[in-house]
Amino acid sequence: MYSKLVGLFANDIAMDLGTSNIVICTKKDGLLLSEPAVVAFKKNNIDRKGVVAVGKEAQLMVGKTPKNITTIRPMRDGVIADFKATEIMIRFLIEKVYEKSRFAKPRIIVCLPQEVTQVERNAVKDAVLKAGAREVFLVAEPMAAAIGAGIDVLRPTGHMVVDIGAGTSEVGVTSLGGLVLCQASRVAGNRIDKAILDFLRQEYNLHIGVRAAESIKMEIGSAVKLDEPLVAPVKGRDNFGFLTKLEMDSEKIRKAIKEPLNQIAFTVRNVIEVIPADLAGDIVDNGIVLTGGGGLIRGLDKFLSDVLELPVFVADEPLLAVSRGLTKLLQDEKLLQQVYGRDKSHILPKHIKL
Ligand SMILES: Nc1ncnc2c1ncn2[C@@H]1O[C@H](COP(=O)(O)OP(=O)(O)OP(=O)(O)O)[C@@H](O)[C@H]1O
Ligand SMILES: [Mg+2]
Repeated sequence: MYSKLVGLFANDIAMDLGTSNIVICTKKDGLLLSEPAVVAFKKNNIDRKGVVAVGKEAQLMVGKTPKNITTIRPMRDGVIADFKATEIMIRFLIEKVYEKSRFAKPRIIVCLPQEVTQVERNAVKDAVLKAGAREVFLVAEPMAAAIGAGIDVLRPTGHMVVDIGAGTSEVGVTSLGGLVLCQASRVAGNRIDKAILDFLRQEYNLHIGVRAAESIKMEIGSAVKLDEPLVAPVKGRDNFGFLTKLEMDSEKIRKAIKEPLNQIAFTVRNVIEVIPADLAGDIVDNGIVLTGGGGLIRGLDKFLSDVLELPVFVADEPLLAVSRGLTKLLQDEKLLQQVYGRDKSHILPKHIKL
């Protein structure tokens, strides 16, 4: 009987609906696939039959589509910008994972940005059920990130995690298996890219695309002054439409991205100011853990630590923290039940608005 039950749960999966990537994890293998959150449709045919490509294949088509194809990023700025496309993308990816094993309906844990409304949460739940799930658990992203960063969220100790993704930065304080506080801001990776793009246009009359701006951020972006500045060539178009190239350095990019980084620090500070006194001491001791791709910005830990006057650490492989947390939830039924039970109240838009 027991092994039968275990077998029944063995094909449960978890899905992180991120702005830039959709990640799927299984109990056995951990991270199974990570695909860009992009769908390519036949124009005027935005339904299941009109899907041309999903994920990596669709990403390659962005900006290069012929007239009869259109690419959509269903999740934007941490919210569902196009629900129909989101539903199609979720169903496509779940069906891809279950191609070979259709024997038992899985339970699916879905990790959503905190900013998603209750209506959208229900709609995501519906889409996942339609895709063949037996049961759906919605878990808040900062909770999954905290678990993935190795924090023991069940202990009666406060921990603060700052997950900086592409569309949202989410600040969460966990204790006793729940999110005591959570605050999200739309200032995250995409905004930092936009700051670089605007800076190059305003200061150098150089027009580049968002993907080029993201590459510059990764290559030479830094939150603090580096002892040895990094340099990289930047190619784009000038005001007259001519293709041109110039050399950029990390110090100029640091100034360009200072504003969005200050805004992220501001959001964290807002949460710190309202942490209940008992937990505040824990945060002073434990510090702040950074997760999400934004945690990879050079020197961001030092920058935040200087501004907030608290210790700040970057989680191991911060890009993978959420998927690691989801895998742990799949593997530990007790943890899932405890976190889900407590997390539910916070998944409703009950978190404080500052
Ligand atoms: N080495 C790097 N340096 C700086 N930023 C990086 C690096 N690698 C990835 N990023 C940024 O991290 C972001 C993606 O992170 P992540 O996968 O955590 O986001 P997401 O989960 O898709 O988004 P969200 O949680 O907002 O929905 C992108 O903005 C990307 O540019
Ligand atoms: Mg994320």
